[in-house]
Amino acid sequence: MKLSNTPLYTASQIQQRVASLATQLSQDYQGREVVALIVLKGGLHFGSDLIRNLTIPVAVDFIRAKSYDGAASTGIVEFLIPPSLPLNGKHVVILEDILDTGLTARAILERVQADRPASVAICSLFDKPARRKVDLEGQYIGFELDDHFVVGYGMDYEEQYRELPDVYVLEPSD
Ligand code: IMP
Ligand code: MG
Repeated sequence: MKLSNTPLYTASQIQQRVASLATQLSQDYQGREVVALIVLKGGLHFGSDLIRNLTIPVAVDFIRAKSYDGAASTGIVEFLIPPSLPLNGKHVVILEDILDTGLTARAILERVQADRPASVAICSLFDKPARRKVDLEGQYIGFELDDHFVVGYGMDYEEQYRELPDVYVLEPSD
């Protein structure tokens, strides 16, 4: 596998979109007690950049989910890092790198809802709606993608490429 010759989204295109998502969230959540729940590891860059663009106070927490998908997605998700803050009564915004089948996000949503928050929303930088296996929608989406595997800006292929500032399509090497 190799990276596409040119980025699918450059760092500056990403920064612009992240800033506008932050503006939208800052308006929608004004006056509420917000917890930004960053989904590790892929949401590391996105979460960090997004919260720096918010103009409302926000508490920050992390969750790390491990999906046992293998070839066929089972939807079994284990929480390697559960949230550390009490989410009860809080307005939780889940910050994800990418919504693919939706299985991970659904499990995270169920885990968060068990804590009885005042509200939960999913904010994902990327979305691949055509790949969805469960009925799940993000409320705040950065970019919609076709069925491409992308890396960079936090997203990996076998733990590689997370450090890249731009996002590339991973293509079969010829
Ligand atoms: P889902 O449970 O199928 O929605 O998968 C979500 C997770 O799979 C994401 O949080 C990513 O970690 C990973 N993933 C899905 N698509 C991609 C991709 O195109 N590039 C990198 N990681 C991806
Ligand atoms: Mg991954």
